[in-house]
Amino acid sequence: MKILVIGSGGREHALIWKLSQSSEVDKIYCAPGSAGIAEFAELVTIAPHQIEELAGFAAEQKIDLTVVGPELPLTLGISDLFESRGLKIFGPNRDAAQLEGSKAFAKKIMTENSIPTAAAGIFSDAPSARRYLDQNPAPYVVKADGLAAGKGVLICANREEAQSAIDEIVVKKAFGQAGEKVVIEEFLEGEEASFMVLTDGDTVLTLPSSQDHKRVFDHDQGPNTGGMGAYSPAPIVTQIIEDRVLCEVVTPLMTGLKRKGIVYRGVIYVGLMITKTGPKVLEFNARFGDPECQVIMMRLRTDLVPLLQATVEGTLRTVRPEWYPDPAVCVVLSARGYPGSYETGTEIRGLENLKDWPTGFVFHAGTSKQGGRWRTSGGRVLGVTARGRDLAKAVQEVYRGVNAISWDGMHYRRDIARRAL
Ligand code: AMP
Ligand code: GLY
Repeated sequence: MKILVIGSGGREHALIWKLSQSSEVDKIYCAPGSAGIAEFAELVTIAPHQIEELAGFAAEQKIDLTVVGPELPLTLGISDLFESRGLKIFGPNRDAAQLEGSKAFAKKIMTENSIPTAAAGIFSDAPSARRYLDQNPAPYVVKADGLAAGKGVLICANREEAQSAIDEIVVKKAFGQAGEKVVIEEFLEGEEASFMVLTDGDTVLTLPSSQDHKRVFDHDQGPNTGGMGAYSPAPIVTQIIEDRVLCEVVTPLMTGLKRKGIVYRGVIYVGLMITKTGPKVLEFNARFGDPECQVIMMRLRTDLVPLLQATVEGTLRTVRPEWYPDPAVCVVLSARGYPGSYETGTEIRGLENLKDWPTGFVFHAGTSKQGGRWRTSGGRVLGVTARGRDLAKAVQEVYRGVNAISWDGMHYRRDIARRAL
């Protein structure tokens, strides 16, 4: 079969790496892809937001299955468009993708269905938002409603900070249209975890738990990033927590969506805070996490194709994936300056040392290749990923991989998975 993957990051490289091992796959295309992805897939120069062009390409090439990596095309309705043309696509439709596309929508559906989450108010003007601050104690978490590339969440220690966050979002429109509405919520304390499920609208299939590392520096210091590393499983997600998330979050969410006439097909990413009183939802995403996807793919023993196909076709109850019990760890190598403005074009050394790495793989997130030499081209550059017999071995193995790579200005966290060790 022919597969088209949309996106260009480490997540898409991991999906394609896994897809390329399937005996069912004859050809993989990736739009737009990256120099790293080009080793497994033919690159197509169409951007993820060009959904008409993507549908045209899929029809012309008779693509059997399209897999959407990032959220933007989902919120633009790429799945509705493909389905209207009889093209199979993995990823929720536009209404369902609102779960990620609008934090106000997500908050409403959680409230309506008694899903545990931070108490919050939703506002479309600054005076009513400010009034909420009068009535509720600090600290506050102020969020732009729409997609803001991970930058639309501001943690505010006091009223003054929250007021200027509201001004930035609602008055100055720092995040453009994403700031038409603002969500202000209670600050939750605890440990974060990522919980992903596949669903075809009826059956829910739980994927292994994982944990991201959002801050740029060790010991969770510095600004938030897209994610500096991940590991799976996350020991904080015990069987009891998993059962509670399914029962208190996923099941009522599915019921709530159905009541709105929404059929969700794809992956639901639940960003959790494990608080003293149990799991609470921080956010939903309508796609695989990045870099969580890298460690999940590294732990998937069986073929990915039947899982994606069954999700799309509504037959998820018939598939039983198998997972390696061995933990996996991903360490993101980033460019100097990230998550602010960063350097690009720096030569990367040492990648050839890891070409035939039996227990790991280096996923590319932002690289280019010129004259046989790899160069940096993004903020997150590489995701060095490895599996080990236990978590300590996986950590040891992944940092052995990291130590083989270098460039001027290369940055990474040295404490990925340390919390779990
Ligand atoms: P979000 O995109 O909504 O998940 O927010 C990004 C990050 O902000 C999360 O991963 C948390 O680290 C933090 N965050 C969001 N909401 C809260 C909250 N209510 N309490 C504490 N931290 C939060
Ligand atoms: N790693 C968090 C995310 O993909 O949103």
